[in-house]
Amino acid sequence: TIRPLNLYFVLELLLGVFIQTALRHSAFYCHDVKKCQFTSSHDLVYLEQIYFNKVLMLQYNSTLEKFEGYTKKMMEIADDLNKSKRTLDYEKKCAEQCQIYVDFTLDFLPHLVEPSVRITPVERQGNGHQMLLVCSAYDFYPKQIKLTWLRNGEKVVNDVTSTEELSNRNWLYQIHSYLEYTPSPGEELTCMVEHASLKEPKYYNWEPTSGAERNKIAVGTSVLLFGFLIFVAGLLFYKRKSP
Ligand SMILES: *[C@@H]1O[C@H](CO)[C@@H](O)[C@H](O)[C@H]1NC(C)=O
Ligand SMILES: *[C@@H]1O[C@H](CO)[C@@H](O)[C@H](O)[C@H]1NC(C)=O
Repeated sequence: TIRPLNLYFVLELLLGVFIQTALRHSAFYCHDVKKCQFTSSHDLVYLEQIYFNKVLMLQYNSTLEKFEGYTKKMMEIADDLNKSKRTLDYEKKCAEQCQIYVDFTLDFLPHLVEPSVRITPVERQGNGHQMLLVCSAYDFYPKQIKLTWLRNGEKVVNDVTSTEELSNRNWLYQIHSYLEYTPSPGEELTCMVEHASLKEPKYYNWEPTSGAERNKIAVGTSVLLFGFLIFVAGLLFYKRKSP
């Protein structure tokens, strides 16, 4: 059977040890810290650490999503804590809080992270010559962003759908904007990105490099050419027939 363990139990346990040792000596102490720590410019870890006498005994790490003990006794406790869904859920909530606080703190600091942007075609079946392009912006901060599709420099209003700004599980965001279109030769499709990290809008052009895309354009072009030839043939035929 699993004992109903939680962090307070551990704290109580340490407190018990603390009181006992404090009675004998006089300079022992225990403390518990919760930390939101940046691990890179793009990531964040939440840690809850229990120290006894300035030595780290037990730690929850949000990257691992579990507790780790650093002495034999603490390893056993960590093992029990890892089995307690309630404790793990509690720690997960704290990790989410961490993200919210970062958002809150960064609101006061001018901290801007430029999105990295990519345009990719989405494979679709049974939709004739219709294509779907997605313009994705990753890892930006703050949340506010605007993606606009341009066709030959003109804003596309219809046939565009967009996701919300999605959380990246750390403190950065991502967003995706979809454009439905029929490929035609010589057409220029551009994704325009406006964000606080950019002095002016940034433009990303779609280069139809994939075979499928080029094939569709080639088919479109040959259909046009074929139509034109029929037209010319018809015209000649008509001219010959007319008196
Ligand atoms: C948390 O876990 C990750 C993944 O194993 C590790 O890289 C990182 O060093 C840990 N952080 C601390 C403070 O132990
Ligand atoms: C809990 O974490 C410890 C590491 O301190 C590990 O040995 C153990 O397997 C983990 N238990 C579970 C259920 O994940």
